[in-house]
Amino acid sequence: MAVAICAFIWTFTTILGPSGNLALSPVVSGVLSTPTNVRLTSSNMNLMLTWDSPDRPATSQVYYTTQFKSSVSDFKVGCVNISNLECDLSQLNVSIFEYGKYTGRVRSQSGTESSTWEESNQITLDKDTIIGSPIVSLSSNGAAIEVTIKDPVFTISALRKVYHSVNYNITYWEDGWREKARSNSNIQQNRVVLNDLDPWTKYCVQVQIITERNPNLSIPSAAVCESTTTEEEVPWVAAVGTFCIVALAVALVVVAVVYRKHMSHFLCPKDALPQHLKEYLLAPPISSMYLAMRNSHPPDEIYHQVSIIADGRPTTEGRKENLQQTA
Ligand SMILES: *[C@@H]1O[C@H](CO)[C@@H](O)[C@H](O)[C@H]1NC(C)=O
Ligand SMILES: *[C@@H]1O[C@H](CO)[C@@H](O)[C@H](O)[C@H]1NC(C)=O
Ligand SMILES: *[C@@H]1O[C@H](CO)[C@@H](O)[C@H](O)[C@H]1NC(C)=O
Ligand SMILES: *[C@@H]1O[C@H](CO)[C@@H](O)[C@H](O)[C@H]1NC(C)=O
Repeated sequence: MAVAICAFIWTFTTILGPSGNLALSPVVSGVLSTPTNVRLTSSNMNLMLTWDSPDRPATSQVYYTTQFKSSVSDFKVGCVNISNLECDLSQLNVSIFEYGKYTGRVRSQSGTESSTWEESNQITLDKDTIIGSPIVSLSSNGAAIEVTIKDPVFTISALRKVYHSVNYNITYWEDGWREKARSNSNIQQNRVVLNDLDPWTKYCVQVQIITERNPNLSIPSAAVCESTTTEEEVPWVAAVGTFCIVALAVALVVVAVVYRKHMSHFLCPKDALPQHLKEYLLAPPISSMYLAMRNSHPPDEIYHQVSIIADGRPTTEGRKENLQQTA
């Protein structure tokens, strides 16, 4: 009798299934509908698998399990038994190659039931990743503005490691005149001075990253603005000038110390002149003009005596006084 009751209960639960649905077997793959719209994307070199919940809603809580593979490997385990609709595969403890081609897949689970796998698109990480916006800061220096660019942080590797050629497209315009913006897309350094600007004017700057492998430009940075002031001598010009003068002075001192022996030899040679040369140099010149000048007497200076006598006429002051008195 007890055996019969047990058999009855077993049959009953089997038919209804654990979740109360009518099912012929407790574990049937494909009974649960698959997640929809499964897509693999990448932003700043992460690897994000996202999906929507199944079309036919399950009566109980649905969990998802993900896997992913590269073009040269088999599927590896991703996120297991999660309830949200995305899995960042680059956050798992698995190595991901920055130039790899990846595909993901998801299945839903509810109780003991599992759906079939639903596969995503394939992406090539470095080509398809969306490069985030750079961070731009400005500082004005007289009539010029210095732009400093910080690259976005990548989940895997770094911008300049992944891409061998990185250019910045710097767009700048006078505040309120966006339609007259100028661009320079040939910039590799992350510090740039814009110096074709007017003084006392507010300029705004926006930067995008261009790479050789990724066909899309990065997300543009937020536009930041800064005002120029007046044209003035840049302080570093004076600093560099002073530095050069000091360096030159130090170099001269060093040269003087190092070569002081040679120089003293050169200026006060120890070697005496040959005797005949000395005699020649000290001998009185035998020039007729010199002799004539030496023997002649100094010429007499001719002058006439001149006396200065005051004529007694009134001065300018005196004349003015006279005029006032007569008026
Ligand atoms: C999935 O998670 C649920 C609840 O968190 C748990 O009951 C279930 O046993 C898990 N299944 C697997 C296969 O880990
Ligand atoms: C990551 O995986 C390696 C081996 O694959 C293991 O030694 C290490 O402990 C793991 N780290 C974490 C945080 O799970
Ligand atoms: C740089 O940015 C400007 C403004 O967004 C755009 O018009 C220009 O085509 C870009 N240059 C390149 C080389 O992408
Ligand atoms: C990249 O550019 C292509 C062509 O311009 C466009 O179709 C695609 O949506 C862009 N991708 C992203 C992620 O913006």
